[in-house]
Amino acid sequence: MTLAGELGELATEIAREAGDLARRRRQEGVRLAATKSTLADIVTEADREVEALIRDRLRAARAEDGFLGEESGAEVGTSGITWVVDPIDGTVNYAYGIPAYNVSIAAVRGEPDPESWEALAAAVNAPALGEMFTAALGHGAWSDGARLSVTAETPAGALLGTGFGYDPATHEGDLATVARVMPMARDVRRMGAAALDLAYVAAGRLDGYFERGLRPWDHAAGGLLVSEAGGVVSRTDVESPRPMLVAAGRAVHDRLLAILGTEK
Ligand code: IPD
Repeated sequence: MTLAGELGELATEIAREAGDLARRRRQEGVRLAATKSTLADIVTEADREVEALIRDRLRAARAEDGFLGEESGAEVGTSGITWVVDPIDGTVNYAYGIPAYNVSIAAVRGEPDPESWEALAAAVNAPALGEMFTAALGHGAWSDGARLSVTAETPAGALLGTGFGYDPATHEGDLATVARVMPMARDVRRMGAAALDLAYVAAGRLDGYFERGLRPWDHAAGGLLVSEAGGVVSRTDVESPRPMLVAAGRAVHDRLLAILGTEK
């Protein structure tokens, strides 16, 4: 088996266990641990507990690897592989009992920086939806035994996903972006979980996705799902504090990039 395939199996196994824990804790009742940058930017006790579980399992299986997690930050490794983890992506959905949340785990090679890393393996587990999405570099993207493929939709017929950052100062710009995109597409959805948006693009349920200001753990796993499903993933404005991520099949991707690529 290739290294990517091995890492993919490990990511899937750990994402399954982590998803079970997140779901169990949700059934027991969510306890908010803190608000972070703004009222919408929350962390629950489950976020921390699930990240600790993932970190422990990875440390036990691959002690030399680095780790970059949403809740506990970075740990540098010596193997050249780093795990990029969002223990609960869609935390606000999770806190409100909306099932669109997921555990997102990726293994990347090189610096844990989206500008230069090579994503090797990904698992996105949405336990309350009963769905697991996986990918390994060169092995395709899969869910429930079926190979995933992005759509070949035209821009005019596209159903798109997007998201908004937590900083209120950015909301006007994000809404202006949506207003620019809507006339070119069928419609736009805001689901509240970036990794799931990307998994849905890979699965052909959304024709494309765009969002400014994502953090590495929001898109590391989902980005590999899309590229292994035959889609294109780009980041533009990488020097700005809020780079734009665009992920879609070729035609929709290129149209979105033409509209959004250089907008601040
Ligand atoms: C957030 C979600 C949301 C996206 C935000 C992310 P979190 O992740 O993915 O959909 O719009 O940009 O930060 O905080 O729930 O892990």
